[in-house]
Amino acid sequence: MTPAVTEPVWAVLAEATRRLEAAGVLSARHDAEVLLGFVTHTDRKTLDRQLGLAAGELAAYRELVSRRELREPLQYITGRAAFRYLELDVGPGVFVPRPETEVMAGAAVDELKRLLTEGVRHPVAVDLCTGSAAVALAMASEAPGSRVTGVELSAEAASYARRNAADLVEIRQGDIADAVDDLAGQVHVVSANPPYIPFTAWETVAPEARGYDPELALWSDGDGLDAIRVVSDVAARLLVDGGLVLCEHADVQGESAPGVFAAAGDWATVRDNPDLAGRPRFVTARRAPRELSHSSGTAGTIAP
Ligand SMILES: C[S@@+](CC[C@H](N)C(=O)[O-])C[C@H]1O[C@@H](n2cnc3c(N)ncnc32)[C@H](O)[C@@H]1O
Repeated sequence: MTPAVTEPVWAVLAEATRRLEAAGVLSARHDAEVLLGFVTHTDRKTLDRQLGLAAGELAAYRELVSRRELREPLQYITGRAAFRYLELDVGPGVFVPRPETEVMAGAAVDELKRLLTEGVRHPVAVDLCTGSAAVALAMASEAPGSRVTGVELSAEAASYARRNAADLVEIRQGDIADAVDDLAGQVHVVSANPPYIPFTAWETVAPEARGYDPELALWSDGDGLDAIRVVSDVAARLLVDGGLVLCEHADVQGESAPGVFAAAGDWATVRDNPDLAGRPRFVTARRAPRELSHSSGTAGTIAP
Protein backbone atom coordinates (compact mmCIF):
# COMPACT_ATOMS: atom_id res chain seq x y z
CA MET A 1 0.00 0.00 0.00
CA THR A 2 1.31 3.47 -0.86
CA PRO A 3 1.74 5.51 2.32
CA ALA A 4 -0.40 8.61 2.64
CA VAL A 5 1.50 11.71 1.71
CA THR A 6 1.22 14.97 3.60
CA GLU A 7 1.85 18.59 2.70
CA PRO A 8 5.24 19.33 1.08
CA VAL A 9 8.45 19.37 3.04
CA TRP A 10 8.86 23.14 2.66
CA ALA A 11 5.56 23.75 4.43
CA VAL A 12 6.31 21.23 7.19
CA LEU A 13 9.70 22.87 7.76
CA ALA A 14 8.20 26.35 7.82
CA GLU A 15 5.71 25.34 10.51
CA ALA A 16 8.38 23.62 12.64
CA THR A 17 10.72 26.61 12.29
CA ARG A 18 7.97 28.95 13.48
CA ARG A 19 7.29 26.75 16.51
CA LEU A 20 10.95 26.54 17.47
CA GLU A 21 11.49 30.27 17.00
CA ALA A 22 8.53 30.96 19.26
CA ALA A 23 10.12 28.66 21.88
CA GLY A 24 13.31 30.76 21.80
CA VAL A 25 15.50 28.30 19.88
CA LEU A 26 18.16 30.44 18.16
CA SER A 27 19.01 27.86 15.49
CA ALA A 28 15.33 27.14 14.70
CA ARG A 29 15.62 26.54 10.95
CA HIS A 30 18.77 24.44 11.27
CA ASP A 31 17.25 22.31 14.05
CA ALA A 32 13.99 21.86 12.13
CA GLU A 33 16.00 20.56 9.16
CA VAL A 34 18.19 18.27 11.25
CA LEU A 35 15.14 16.71 12.93
CA LEU A 36 13.42 16.19 9.59
CA GLY A 37 16.57 14.58 8.19
CA PHE A 38 16.66 12.36 11.30
CA VAL A 39 13.04 11.22 10.89
CA THR A 40 13.35 10.60 7.15
CA HIS A 41 16.89 9.14 7.31
CA THR A 42 17.98 11.74 4.76
CA ASP A 43 20.78 14.27 4.69
CA ARG A 44 19.03 17.56 5.54
CA LYS A 45 20.79 19.30 2.63
CA THR A 46 19.39 16.89 0.03
CA LEU A 47 15.78 16.83 1.28
CA ASP A 48 13.49 17.48 -1.69
CA ARG A 49 11.35 20.40 -0.47
CA GLN A 50 8.54 19.75 -2.98
CA LEU A 51 7.85 16.16 -1.89
CA GLY A 52 5.46 15.21 0.88
CA LEU A 53 6.12 13.00 3.92
CA ALA A 54 4.48 9.72 4.81
CA ALA A 55 1.80 10.34 7.44
CA GLY A 56 3.74 8.33 10.04
CA GLU A 57 6.83 10.42 9.41
CA LEU A 58 4.91 13.65 9.95
CA ALA A 59 3.55 12.45 13.30
CA ALA A 60 7.02 11.33 14.42
CA TYR A 61 8.51 14.62 13.28
CA ARG A 62 5.97 16.74 15.17
CA GLU A 63 6.70 14.78 18.32
CA LEU A 64 10.43 15.49 18.01
CA VAL A 65 9.76 19.17 17.34
CA SER A 66 7.69 19.24 20.54
CA ARG A 67 10.65 17.87 22.50
CA ARG A 68 12.92 20.52 21.00
CA GLU A 69 10.29 23.16 21.82
CA LEU A 70 10.76 22.19 25.47
CA ARG A 71 14.46 22.97 24.87
CA GLU A 72 15.70 19.40 25.03
CA PRO A 73 19.13 19.53 23.32
CA LEU A 74 19.02 18.62 19.65
CA GLN A 75 21.82 16.09 20.24
CA TYR A 76 19.86 14.25 22.96
CA ILE A 77 16.98 13.86 20.50
CA THR A 78 19.15 12.54 17.65
CA GLY A 79 21.58 10.72 19.98
CA ARG A 80 24.56 12.10 18.04
CA ALA A 81 26.92 15.04 18.50
CA ALA A 82 29.59 16.34 16.13
CA PHE A 83 32.99 17.29 17.57
CA ARG A 84 35.89 18.17 15.26
CA TYR A 85 36.12 15.15 12.89
CA LEU A 86 34.06 12.90 15.18
CA GLU A 87 30.44 11.82 15.51
CA LEU A 88 29.79 10.80 19.11
CA ASP A 89 27.03 8.90 20.87
CA VAL A 90 25.34 11.13 23.44
CA GLY A 91 22.14 11.12 25.45
CA PRO A 92 20.73 11.87 28.89
CA GLY A 93 23.47 11.43 31.50
CA VAL A 94 26.36 12.76 29.43
CA PHE A 95 27.44 16.33 28.65
CA VAL A 96 26.95 17.30 24.99
CA PRO A 97 30.38 18.40 23.65
CA ARG A 98 30.39 22.04 22.57
CA PRO A 99 32.02 23.82 19.60
CA GLU A 100 33.82 26.17 22.03
CA THR A 101 35.90 23.20 23.26
CA GLU A 102 37.16 22.34 19.77
CA VAL A 103 39.99 24.90 19.73
CA MET A 104 41.37 23.57 23.03
CA ALA A 105 41.20 20.01 21.69
CA GLY A 106 43.04 21.20 18.56
CA ALA A 107 45.80 22.76 20.67
CA ALA A 108 46.19 19.47 22.57
CA VAL A 109 46.38 17.59 19.25
CA ASP A 110 49.02 20.06 17.97
CA GLU A 111 51.17 19.47 21.05
CA LEU A 112 50.98 15.69 20.62
CA LYS A 113 51.86 16.00 16.91
CA ARG A 114 54.83 18.19 17.83
CA LEU A 115 56.06 15.56 20.28
CA LEU A 116 55.61 12.79 17.70
CA THR A 117 57.58 14.82 15.15
CA GLU A 118 60.32 15.36 17.72
CA GLY A 119 60.66 11.60 18.10
CA VAL A 120 58.58 10.87 21.22
CA ARG A 121 57.15 7.56 19.98
CA HIS A 122 54.12 7.30 22.27
CA PRO A 123 53.34 10.63 23.92
CA VAL A 124 51.04 10.17 26.92
CA ALA A 125 47.90 12.29 27.33
CA VAL A 126 45.25 12.40 30.04
CA ASP A 127 41.84 14.01 29.53
CA LEU A 128 40.37 14.92 32.93
CA CYS A 129 36.56 15.16 33.16
CA THR A 130 36.24 13.36 29.84
CA GLY A 131 32.42 13.14 29.55
CA SER A 132 31.63 11.59 26.15
CA ALA A 133 35.44 11.26 25.55
CA ALA A 134 35.23 14.00 22.89
CA VAL A 135 38.61 15.63 23.65
CA ALA A 136 40.34 12.33 24.48
CA LEU A 137 39.18 10.78 21.24
CA ALA A 138 40.19 13.84 19.20
CA MET A 139 43.71 13.48 20.63
CA ALA A 140 43.91 9.73 20.01
CA SER A 141 42.47 9.85 16.48
CA GLU A 142 44.22 13.00 15.22
CA ALA A 143 47.62 12.23 16.76
CA PRO A 144 47.89 8.47 16.21
CA GLY A 145 50.56 6.83 18.32
CA SER A 146 49.56 8.83 21.40
CA ARG A 147 48.45 6.92 24.49
CA VAL A 148 45.35 8.60 25.84
CA THR A 149 43.46 8.02 29.10
CA GLY A 150 40.13 9.69 29.92
CA VAL A 151 38.88 10.11 33.50
CA GLU A 152 35.19 10.46 34.32
CA LEU A 153 33.37 10.31 37.67
CA SER A 154 29.84 9.64 36.45
CA ALA A 155 29.08 5.99 35.65
CA GLU A 156 26.55 6.99 32.99
CA ALA A 157 28.95 9.36 31.24
CA ALA A 158 31.79 6.82 31.50
CA SER A 159 29.68 4.25 29.69
CA TYR A 160 29.12 6.70 26.80
CA ALA A 161 32.86 7.44 26.85
CA ARG A 162 33.70 3.73 26.61
CA ARG A 163 31.29 3.25 23.74
CA ASN A 164 32.71 6.25 21.84
CA ALA A 165 36.34 5.55 22.62
CA ALA A 166 36.26 1.88 21.59
CA ASP A 167 39.88 0.71 21.72
CA LEU A 168 41.41 4.12 21.04
CA VAL A 169 41.26 5.56 24.57
CA GLU A 170 41.45 3.98 28.02
CA ILE A 171 38.53 5.21 30.11
CA ARG A 172 38.77 5.17 33.89
CA GLN A 173 35.73 5.81 36.02
CA GLY A 174 36.80 7.74 39.10
CA ASP A 175 37.55 11.11 40.65
CA ILE A 176 40.18 13.18 38.84
CA ALA A 177 41.71 13.84 42.28
CA ASP A 178 43.22 10.34 42.39
CA ALA A 179 42.09 8.13 39.47
CA VAL A 180 45.36 8.49 37.54
CA ASP A 181 47.87 8.78 40.39
CA ASP A 182 49.86 5.89 38.89
CA LEU A 183 50.74 8.13 35.90
CA ALA A 184 52.42 10.80 38.06
CA GLY A 185 55.40 12.38 36.30
CA GLN A 186 54.82 10.42 33.05
CA VAL A 187 52.28 12.50 31.14
CA HIS A 188 53.08 14.94 28.30
CA VAL A 189 49.65 16.56 27.85
CA VAL A 190 46.75 17.04 30.31
CA SER A 191 43.48 18.43 28.94
CA ALA A 192 40.42 19.26 31.00
CA ASN A 193 36.99 20.76 30.49
CA PRO A 194 35.85 20.64 34.12
CA PRO A 195 32.60 21.99 35.58
CA TYR A 196 33.13 25.73 36.13
CA ILE A 197 29.78 27.50 36.48
CA PRO A 198 29.03 28.95 39.94
CA PHE A 199 25.49 28.26 41.19
CA THR A 200 24.94 32.03 41.35
CA ALA A 201 25.05 32.13 37.51
CA TRP A 202 22.06 29.73 37.16
CA GLU A 203 19.83 32.33 35.46
CA THR A 204 22.41 33.04 32.74
CA VAL A 205 22.71 29.41 31.67
CA ALA A 206 20.78 28.27 28.55
CA PRO A 207 17.65 26.17 29.25
CA GLU A 208 19.15 23.28 27.25
CA ALA A 209 22.14 23.13 29.61
CA ARG A 210 20.55 23.81 32.99
CA GLY A 211 17.54 21.61 32.25
CA TYR A 212 19.27 18.64 30.62
CA ASP A 213 23.10 18.50 30.99
CA PRO A 214 24.10 16.45 34.06
CA GLU A 215 24.54 18.69 37.14
CA LEU A 216 27.99 17.19 37.77
CA ALA A 217 29.10 18.50 34.37
CA LEU A 218 28.11 22.13 34.93
CA TRP A 219 28.38 23.41 38.46
CA SER A 220 31.42 24.05 40.59
CA ASP A 221 31.37 25.32 44.16
CA GLY A 222 32.15 28.81 45.39
CA ASP A 223 33.43 31.10 42.67
CA GLY A 224 33.14 28.32 40.08
CA LEU A 225 36.90 27.74 40.10
CA ASP A 226 37.12 24.87 42.63
CA ALA A 227 37.32 22.12 39.99
CA ILE A 228 39.90 24.16 38.04
CA ARG A 229 42.03 24.33 41.21
CA VAL A 230 41.92 20.52 41.39
CA VAL A 231 42.89 20.33 37.69
CA SER A 232 45.92 22.56 38.34
CA ASP A 233 47.04 20.36 41.29
CA VAL A 234 46.47 17.04 39.50
CA ALA A 235 48.06 18.19 36.22
CA ALA A 236 51.14 19.44 38.10
CA ARG A 237 51.56 15.94 39.59
CA LEU A 238 50.94 14.10 36.32
CA LEU A 239 53.03 16.10 33.86
CA VAL A 240 56.67 15.66 32.99
CA ASP A 241 58.73 18.84 33.36
CA GLY A 242 57.79 21.06 30.39
CA GLY A 243 54.52 19.13 29.84
CA LEU A 244 51.44 21.08 28.75
CA VAL A 245 48.13 21.52 30.59
CA LEU A 246 45.07 22.88 28.79
CA CYS A 247 41.99 23.78 30.84
CA GLU A 248 38.70 25.26 29.66
CA HIS A 249 36.89 27.96 31.64
CA ALA A 250 33.91 30.30 31.27
CA ASP A 251 34.36 33.39 29.12
CA VAL A 252 34.01 35.55 32.25
CA GLN A 253 36.93 33.69 33.89
CA GLY A 254 39.55 34.96 31.41
CA GLU A 255 41.57 36.46 34.28
CA SER A 256 40.56 34.40 37.29
CA ALA A 257 41.20 30.96 35.72
CA PRO A 258 44.77 31.77 34.56
CA GLY A 259 45.17 33.31 38.03
CA VAL A 260 44.56 29.87 39.60
CA PHE A 261 47.50 28.42 37.64
CA ALA A 262 49.73 31.46 38.12
CA ALA A 263 49.22 31.28 41.90
CA ALA A 264 49.92 27.56 42.18
CA GLY A 265 53.70 27.82 41.86
CA ASP A 266 53.93 24.79 39.53
CA TRP A 267 53.72 26.49 36.15
CA ALA A 268 56.33 28.23 34.02
CA THR A 269 54.19 29.95 31.40
CA VAL A 270 50.52 30.60 31.93
CA ARG A 271 48.53 31.86 28.96
CA ASP A 272 44.88 32.39 28.22
CA ASN A 273 43.50 31.49 24.78
CA PRO A 274 40.34 32.39 22.82
CA ASP A 275 37.71 30.07 21.35
CA LEU A 276 36.42 30.23 17.75
CA ALA A 277 34.25 33.22 18.64
CA GLY A 278 37.27 35.10 20.06
CA ARG A 279 36.09 34.80 23.69
CA PRO A 280 38.54 33.92 26.50
CA ARG A 281 38.13 30.13 26.80
CA PHE A 282 41.10 28.07 27.96
CA VAL A 283 44.30 28.28 29.93
CA THR A 284 47.54 26.68 28.78
CA ALA A 285 50.58 26.33 31.02
CA ARG A 286 53.87 24.43 30.99
CA ARG A 287 54.99 22.34 33.96
CA ALA A 288 57.88 24.20 35.56
CA PRO A 289 60.99 22.10 36.18
CA ARG A 290 60.48 20.54 39.62
CA GLU A 291 63.63 21.95 41.20
CA LEU A 292 62.49 25.47 40.20
CA SER A 293 58.81 25.36 41.13
CA HIS A 294 57.68 25.70 44.77
CA SER A 295 61.31 25.77 45.98
CA SER A 296 61.67 29.22 44.38
CA GLY A 297 58.58 30.35 46.27
CA THR A 298 57.43 32.49 43.34
CA ALA A 299 54.14 32.27 41.52
CA GLY A 300 54.12 31.78 37.71
CA THR A 301 53.64 34.80 35.50
CA ILE A 302 50.77 35.15 33.05
CA ALA A 303 52.06 35.61 29.53
CA PRO A 304 50.29 38.18 27.31
C1 LIG B 1 31.83 20.13 31.22
S1 LIG B 1 31.79 18.38 31.16
C2 LIG B 1 33.05 18.10 29.92
C3 LIG B 1 32.93 16.78 29.20
C4 LIG B 1 33.88 16.64 27.99
N1 LIG B 1 35.27 16.76 28.37
C5 LIG B 1 33.56 17.66 26.93
O1 LIG B 1 34.32 18.64 26.78
O2 LIG B 1 32.55 17.51 26.25
C6 LIG B 1 32.60 17.96 32.67
C7 LIG B 1 32.67 16.48 32.97
O3 LIG B 1 33.41 16.29 34.19
C8 LIG B 1 32.85 15.24 34.95
N2 LIG B 1 33.30 15.43 36.33
C9 LIG B 1 32.90 16.37 37.23
N3 LIG B 1 33.59 16.27 38.38
C10 LIG B 1 34.47 15.23 38.20
C11 LIG B 1 35.46 14.65 39.03
N4 LIG B 1 35.69 15.09 40.27
N5 LIG B 1 36.19 13.61 38.55
C12 LIG B 1 35.95 13.15 37.27
N6 LIG B 1 35.02 13.68 36.44
C13 LIG B 1 34.28 14.71 36.89
C14 LIG B 1 31.36 15.41 34.70
O4 LIG B 1 30.64 14.24 35.01
C15 LIG B 1 31.34 15.79 33.22
O5 LIG B 1 31.23 14.65 32.41
